[in-house]
Order: sequence, then C-alpha cells, then structure tokens
Amino acid sequence: MTAQLSKKSEAWSARFSEPVSDLVKRYTASVFFDKRLALFDIQGSLAHAEMLAAQGIISAQDRADIERGMAQIRSEIEAGQFEWLLDLEDVHLNIEKRLTELVGDAGKRLHTGRSRNDQVATDIRLYMRAAIDDILALLKGLRGALTDLAEQHADTIMPGFTHLQVAQPVTFGHHLLAYVEMFGRDAERMADTRRRVNRLPLGAAALAGTTFPIDRLRVAKTLGFEDVSHNSLDAVSDRDFAIEFTAAASVLMMHISRMSEELVTWMSPRVGFIDIADRFCTGSSIMPQKKNPDVPELARGKTGRVYGHLMGLLTLMKGQPLAYNKDNQEDKEPLFDTVDTVLDTLRIFTDMAAGITVKAENMRAAALQGYATATDLADYLVKKGLPFRDAHEAVAHAVRACDDAGCDLSEMALERLREFSPLIEQDVFAVLTLEGSVAARDHVGGTAPNQVRKAIERVRAQLAE
Ligand code: ARG
Repeated sequence: MTAQLSKKSEAWSARFSEPVSDLVKRYTASVFFDKRLALFDIQGSLAHAEMLAAQGIISAQDRADIERGMAQIRSEIEAGQFEWLLDLEDVHLNIEKRLTELVGDAGKRLHTGRSRNDQVATDIRLYMRAAIDDILALLKGLRGALTDLAEQHADTIMPGFTHLQVAQPVTFGHHLLAYVEMFGRDAERMADTRRRVNRLPLGAAALAGTTFPIDRLRVAKTLGFEDVSHNSLDAVSDRDFAIEFTAAASVLMMHISRMSEELVTWMSPRVGFIDIADRFCTGSSIMPQKKNPDVPELARGKTGRVYGHLMGLLTLMKGQPLAYNKDNQEDKEPLFDTVDTVLDTLRIFTDMAAGITVKAENMRAAALQGYATATDLADYLVKKGLPFRDAHEAVAHAVRACDDAGCDLSEMALERLREFSPLIEQDVFAVLTLEGSVAARDHVGGTAPNQVRKAIERVRAQLAE
C-alpha cells in the first residue's frame, strides 16, 4: 500500500503533504478504460522523442533508449503482460513509469516540452482517426452487400408505403438503395469529421505552449496529421471533434434503426416479406414456434445509447472554461462505447444483409392489395387531357367502387371503369399492372427496374473509389 502510494507521489513530486484516499484514487483514475489508448500513446511519445532529439532537446542516446523501452512496453502490452497500476492513475503515467524502470533517465526526459493535457488530446485523435477509418471501410462493405441484394431484386415488386398504408408499387431493389444512399451520406459525414480530427494538439503542453524549441510540424508529419492546431488553449481543451463524431455516429445509428424497424416488420408472419437467417435470430424459452429478429431489435435499442453518448459529451463540454479541466477525462468511455457499438453493428448488418431471403410472391400479393396503381390511373387520365384534380376525384370514386365490389382496379370491367371517366379505354390495363406502374417511373431517382440498375452502377463506381 505505502509502496504503491509512493509510486504515485513521484508524479507530482513533493508538493503534497498527504496521500489521497483509496476512494479518491479510484474516483479520479482512468487507467482501466484509457489503457485502450496505450498503443496510440506510445506512437505519440515516439514521434515526440524523435522531434526532441532532432531539435537537440534530448540526446540521440536518450531517443534510442526511449525507442528500445517503448518497443518492450509494446510487446508487454500486446502479450497481456503489462501490469496496469491504479496508483499511476492513467495510461500515460503507467507507460512513463514503466519506461523509466526500463531505461532510466531517458524515460524521465520524455515528458520534456509536453503535458498530459496535449498528450491525451493527441492520443484520442489518433484513436478516433483509426476508428473512423474502420467505420468507413465497414460502411463500404454494408453498402456493397445491400447493393448486391438490390441487384438481385431490381425487378421484384413490393408495395411502397406512406403512413404505413400501401401507396404505390416500388421495386425492392429501389427500396434497398434508399438505405445505400443514407449510409453513403453517413460515410461523407465521417470522412468530413476525420478532417477536423486529424490536427495535432501536441506542443500545446499544459495550456500555453512550451519554452523549448519544439518543431510541431515535424511531429504532425510523423504522425500523419494534416496540420497542427493553431491555438494551444483550444488544442488541450475542446472536444468538439468527439462530439461531432458522436453526432455522425448517432445519425448513422438512426439509419440503422430505421432499417431495423423495417426488417422486424417485414419478418413478422403477418407481413412475411423476408426471412432473416437463423444465425441472427433467437427462439423463445416458452413458445416453441417463435423465431425472433433479435439482431435488428437490439440494433434499434443500441441506437439509444449512442444518442445518449452524444448528449453526455455535449453536456460534458458546455460548462467548461478554458483550458483543460479534469471533466474531459469523461470523454473516453462514451467515445469508446460509441465506436464499439457502431463497428459491431456495421459488421453484423453486412453479414445479415447477405443472409436475407426475400419472399417475392408475398411482396407482390401485398402490392396488389390497397389500390397501389390508383395514381397511375389518375396520371393516365391527365395524359388524356383531364386536369389532375378532376382525375384524382374520378379515381377516388373508382377506388370506392372497387372497395364495395371487393376487387382491384385492374379487375374491373372496362365499361364499369368508363362510368368514372369516358376517357378510359382498353389501353388503361397496361398502366393498372404493377409492372407497368414501376416501369413508367423511368427517370433519375425513380423506381423503374432499369433506373435501379443504373443507380447500382453509380454506387458500384463510388465503392470502387
Ligand atoms: N487522464 C487524463 C484525461 O484523460 C489525462 C490528462 C490529465 N491532465 C491533468 N492535468 N490532470 O484527461
């Protein structure tokens, strides 16, 4: 106990007259979650040491010692043999202490010209940059899987809904491509956020910069940052990039959740549009007949926790005066959980998309109910010269008559249809079919099968970029 405390007191030197209680130690420590940043912390330290040596602030020998020590620490961490100590508070102090154990004074010189404030901000940015790259790759995979399914179903007809009422027929391929568009914008948002993540805070030191002749651009280049941050107070204190990332992740999860809601509905036996492969579902412990779409349900639920993290981070930031405050230590868990949730969700959805069985005959039967081609009939009358409002009225009467007779518009006799408008002729039956209806919406963004195929080509070109 005393040995552990004395280890900690080394970090603050002799300033303190009494040790913190165990509760305070546990309350203020972050090592058990920020150790996830370890490899980024080492990467940042190596770039810093390289610059210190190049600037003559530390010797070449010190730099070599630091590199040797860090290589060993890295392998200890990777082998799960590194001993993380709560007494050393966070990932930064744990690694620095071990480095000093391994290489002596060179380890103590590493912290020259920097502070944990700019160090942690650098680590998080490195971590987030890698996370965004993983998310971008997975979004590509998911868009690809949905596009493959859309291609198989460019001609498959389903009812399109508004207000969850049958509205007009659409193709299932077109419906899937709507999500491909949404996830495409999510990728754009992530890539745009990455630009602002990719700035180097190191060199800001505690808050005001440092008296050593550092070369920040050199460190930025080593670490692959696009630029350095241009104000030291801003660099160590703001976490807007983390908020922005979590906001982009929230929108992404909102899209996942909308899709989940549809998958759950489509799989309901009352709807029966699709089946999801068994490996994404579970049974019931009491009802032997059940097959539940657990994965989309859970994804819908997990969306809430990502929104929660966004609110948490916004609230974390709002009351903080410049510059660094300990509040910021609380940025990590919401961020990590957001990244984990998004990565796992994207992986599982990509796999699940490939395991969807489409029940095209049920989709078609549903599209045949609910007068999905009523708008086509109205458009037909307009093309024959009737003003749209009058056409709308005539078709409304026809639909009502169908309702009473219990048949579809396409099943009505021509003479009966002509009672609603004398403009109706034999050629009306071509527009009353589902195939005629979708094929007629033949423009960019429309549901016609040949437009779906063009849209697929466009997406595939994007994915190949
Ligand atoms: N563990 C701290 C964090 O995550 C590191 C920075 C600590 N800086 C300080 N001045 N206490 O924010």
